[in-house]
Amino acid sequence: MRFLQVGCKAALVAAIGSLASASSFKNHYYDYIVVGGGPAGIITAERFVEAGKKVLLLERGVGPTVATGANETLTWNKDLTAIDLPGLSADVGSLPVWDEYMCTDTEGMAACVLGGGVTVNYMVFVHPPEHDFDDNNNWPEGWKWKDLKPAAERLYQRNPGTTLPSADGKRYDQGLYSVLSKFFSTVGWKSVDMISEPNEKHKVYSYPSWNIKDQKRAGPVRTYLPLAEKKDNFSLQLGTKVIRVVRSGSHITGVEVQTSSGETEIITLARDGRVKQIETAKDSGIKVPPKKQWLDLPVGLGFRDHPIFTLKVQTNGSFGIPDYDAIVNGTDRKDISLYGKNSGLLTQGKHRAIFFSSNELNGQTRYYQGSCAPADGSVLEIKTYLTHGATSTGVLGLDSNQKTVFEESPYMQTADDKKAAAAFVKELISDISTPGSGLELITKPNVTAILNTISSGNHYTTSAKLGTDDGRKGGSSVVDLNTKVYGTDNLYVVDGSIHPDLPTGNIQTTIMVIAEAAAARILAQH
Ligand SMILES: Cc1cc2nc3c(=O)[nH]c(=O)nc-3n(C[C@H](O)[C@H](O)[C@H](O)COP(=O)(O)OP(=O)(O)OC[C@H]3O[C@@H](n4cnc5c(N)ncnc54)[C@H](O)[C@@H]3O)c2cc1C
Ligand SMILES: *[C@@H]1O[C@H](CO)[C@@H](O)[C@H](O)[C@H]1NC(C)=O
Ligand SMILES: *[C@@H]1O[C@H](CO)[C@@H](O)[C@H](O)[C@H]1NC(C)=O
Ligand SMILES: *[C@@H]1O[C@H](CO)[C@@H](O)[C@H](O)[C@H]1NC(C)=O
Ligand SMILES: *[C@@H]1O[C@H](CO)[C@@H](O)[C@H](O)[C@H]1NC(C)=O
Ligand SMILES: *[C@@H]1O[C@H](CO)[C@@H](O)[C@H](O)[C@H]1NC(C)=O
Repeated sequence: MRFLQVGCKAALVAAIGSLASASSFKNHYYDYIVVGGGPAGIITAERFVEAGKKVLLLERGVGPTVATGANETLTWNKDLTAIDLPGLSADVGSLPVWDEYMCTDTEGMAACVLGGGVTVNYMVFVHPPEHDFDDNNNWPEGWKWKDLKPAAERLYQRNPGTTLPSADGKRYDQGLYSVLSKFFSTVGWKSVDMISEPNEKHKVYSYPSWNIKDQKRAGPVRTYLPLAEKKDNFSLQLGTKVIRVVRSGSHITGVEVQTSSGETEIITLARDGRVKQIETAKDSGIKVPPKKQWLDLPVGLGFRDHPIFTLKVQTNGSFGIPDYDAIVNGTDRKDISLYGKNSGLLTQGKHRAIFFSSNELNGQTRYYQGSCAPADGSVLEIKTYLTHGATSTGVLGLDSNQKTVFEESPYMQTADDKKAAAAFVKELISDISTPGSGLELITKPNVTAILNTISSGNHYTTSAKLGTDDGRKGGSSVVDLNTKVYGTDNLYVVDGSIHPDLPTGNIQTTIMVIAEAAAARILAQH
């Protein structure tokens, strides 16, 4: 363990998922120290370097690509890891690196590897609709779509997402899409392109938009990091975990880091607002500032996520799960040889169709996303997310082992969320059960049971909310409109935790857009 100092004008940017903190390195001075090399951290760090700043990016995990140090490549391609190959993303949980990459100190799933969740996720890349920012007051003035649009355009230029990744312009394994598109047109839903028509989110379906570029898993590790690494003013330090921020009053002066990997400890600054949490951190062995310097901020309150309801449906379509073992061990010559021509099944992600819809209850519109993927033997699995418009919140905390815990579940806490989600699921079941739909429900058509067996969306937000109402004065916000932590001079948070609201679709695209926007606002301050 050692202490690192930062220059007096330096800023510390926390980008570590639902955790948060900051730092610097050895005798060097940095203009910006970014903690956490997830999507938010890499994008911010790269934009700082591009603006001529000296930047250190600290990441606790290892690199997942050959360029970032991974050496476990595919047997049939020494330039690619299994993580890079879109065709293996559906099976990412059974890859040998999964255990190495997943965090062991968070409740729910999070990835402790360079690239964060984007390194291990299912690559669904939903361009956010304008209404996510504009239809209520959760996103404050200054963070509406008109403000964010330029940031989104900057992101899409580098990391656009695609519904058609295969270089030969063909789509592969379309049995599921053909069954579903028939079903949806029978029940009156519309086919859209979710990339070019992001605002269409009611009774629509689309080919999936995936975070794929040049036939590889994309994301900031590939689309931003190489640009930063070309600059002398950028340093990336892997295997370096920030334990805590060192500060004098409101001014952050450094961070305490741990460079030996393996031990599970946790940093606390973004979360140390709630006094009880500071005491828990202290009891678990983390040094905390004198009590008069504690910042009583509502970190962890108002915590949100998308709940998922899963339906399984029998069809007569021709599709199934690819033979992942044969892809990994190189015996699936047909698909591997097509991939050699930048084409085929292995250029595609897990899902075959994505749908969106919404319903209204007591004046509140709630949105739903359905991610549809092949299961065994012509069975279709629909993961339905209750998304934007959900009113439930929970509480995220820290336990005495420095592990994050749900003190209160963020799922289905309000009567209206239960009622609206039940109505949506009921209607979907009824459509599926219409004779001639081509679909037969395998899941029991018991709405209560379906709603009772929710799983986590792993799209966590709002544990360090952005807003104008200062949490130290009884408000609900932890960071101000420049993403600066209230009560500090130079600590910023830019990851998913600052989002005051849930997006309509899977969250990673929104996280990247907000990081682009936050980087610009922070640069304007320094
Ligand atoms: C299994 C899974 C599947 C998902 N599927 C999808 C999907 O298909 N589509 C989609 O849009 N979203 C998906 N998501 C969600 C999405 O990946 C995350 O919301 C997103 O990655 C969050 O970005 P972030 O930058 O806020 O934080 P993270 O991605 O969590 O990044 C945090 C980074 O900080 C590092 N870090 C943490 N603590 C410290 C510390 N103390 N010191 C130094 N470094 C630290 C971590 O190692 C990590 O690199 C999925 C998530 C999971 C877990
Ligand atoms: C590198 O950072 C230093 C310190 O901020 C700055 O003076 C210098 O101009 C930067 N160099 C480049 C090439 O951006
Ligand atoms: C592969 O990488 C791991 C982790 O960085 C390292 O421990 C190991 O020695 C490397 N193996 C080879 C053969 O280089
Ligand atoms: C590769 O995987 C396939 C499918 O599981 C299996 O049939 C085959 O025996 C494996 N071959 C080798 C060489 O491991
Ligand atoms: C599949 O085909 C069989 C035989 O024609 C039919 O009985 C069954 O209802 C069909 N299933 C679906 C889901 O359409
Ligand atoms: C539906 O499931 C619930 C359990 O979640 C059970 O109590 C109820 O009896 C079921 N209803 C029917 C009609 O099967």
